[in-house]
Amino acid sequence: MLDHALNDSLSRVGQGTPMGETMRRYWLPALLSTEIPEPDCPPVRVALMGESLLAFRDTNGLVGLVQEACPHRRASLYFGRNEECGIRCVYHGWKFDVDGNCVDQMNEPRQFNDQVKITAYPTLDMGGVIWAYLGPPDKKPAPPEFELTKAPETHRYMTKVWQECNWLQAMEGGIDTSHAPILHRKLTDDTDEPGISPNSPFLQGAAPDVEVETTDYGYRYFGIRPIGEDQTFVRGYQYVMPFTQLRPSRYGKEVVDGHFWVPMDDYNVMVYNFGYSWGADPLPENESALKDSGNNLDEDVDPANGFRSIRNRDNNYMLDRDVQKTQTFTGIHGINAQDRAIQESMGSIVDRTLEFLGPSDIAIVAARKLLEQAMDTVKDDGEPLGVAPTYYHVRAAEGMYSKGEAWRESLLSRMHP
Ligand code: FES
Ligand SMILES: [Fe+2]
Repeated sequence: MLDHALNDSLSRVGQGTPMGETMRRYWLPALLSTEIPEPDCPPVRVALMGESLLAFRDTNGLVGLVQEACPHRRASLYFGRNEECGIRCVYHGWKFDVDGNCVDQMNEPRQFNDQVKITAYPTLDMGGVIWAYLGPPDKKPAPPEFELTKAPETHRYMTKVWQECNWLQAMEGGIDTSHAPILHRKLTDDTDEPGISPNSPFLQGAAPDVEVETTDYGYRYFGIRPIGEDQTFVRGYQYVMPFTQLRPSRYGKEVVDGHFWVPMDDYNVMVYNFGYSWGADPLPENESALKDSGNNLDEDVDPANGFRSIRNRDNNYMLDRDVQKTQTFTGIHGINAQDRAIQESMGSIVDRTLEFLGPSDIAIVAARKLLEQAMDTVKDDGEPLGVAPTYYHVRAAEGMYSKGEAWRESLLSRMHP
């Protein structure tokens, strides 16, 4: 249980807030690379960390991430023209390059553009994501080279969906392993609905013991589920500060799935869903094969509507009570939609002063502790965990072990190759 003050400071991410300043010390996913696919393509609005930004790819292919409001009289640059190495406001024709320099003022007979500069953040285009750094320039970390960013396009996927609640409760839902075979359970294999099969070890295992081991980038943790008398099914996950989770993929031993939970503002989070094969085999081209495997593709998002899902709070996520009776635990179609429904139902910022936590929640408690420590570290001008590039090669892995077998060594060697 947290007090109100800590709940608030863990959740809120605006400029000048403790978590806002802490999270601005990391590279943040700002948008998908495919949203601005080519030079001079249409610009894209980006809501990130409570800031209203605009992303564009200029004539030379360079990515700009700038304030959305034109500094002249605050018109939105979204309506601007992306032309000849800059974004030009259509109101009076002021034009800005990817570094935020004003390079032209069409309405002024005597230009004073050298006195005008807009906010522009450094970006990286890696792994299907445009990353941005919103923090102090002298503290900019090494690029976020997760193993994912090294996978060829044939070996990875990257999608995103807008979720209408605070980033932290969404992330806590992702970290929480004990809910998965409950919320995402299929009642039968005789259904086309996605979900976790009754025959999966995930579902056949008993409720898990959860073990957490702190590292220099966050922690790794294990969900340990006894199956019958003789077997143990162990899933090993990674939490990389401040909002990344890696999880074993149901698709195969050489595939890792994961999420980034990136705050849009205090009440909205963009959830990035990714997976990659680190082995020789590419991912299947057929997306349904990945979905069947339990991966986290989100088929119902509408890019034209800011990547909001068609299954959302306005329609109760299209809950079907007949499906709930006979096919899946929730009656909601899709694993991600099930997660969103539940996490959004807790309120925009869940009131953690009213919780009743148990041992299965220890990974969530551990994340809160690390985030609290990170806020203190940043306040004291130190470097929080997960900024230094010690997480580049970490993976997630799972395994079935017979009773008494040393699962930890075996899993660790696969999680830290
Ligand atoms: S408001 Fe943009 S140029 Fe005037
Ligand atoms: Fe879930």
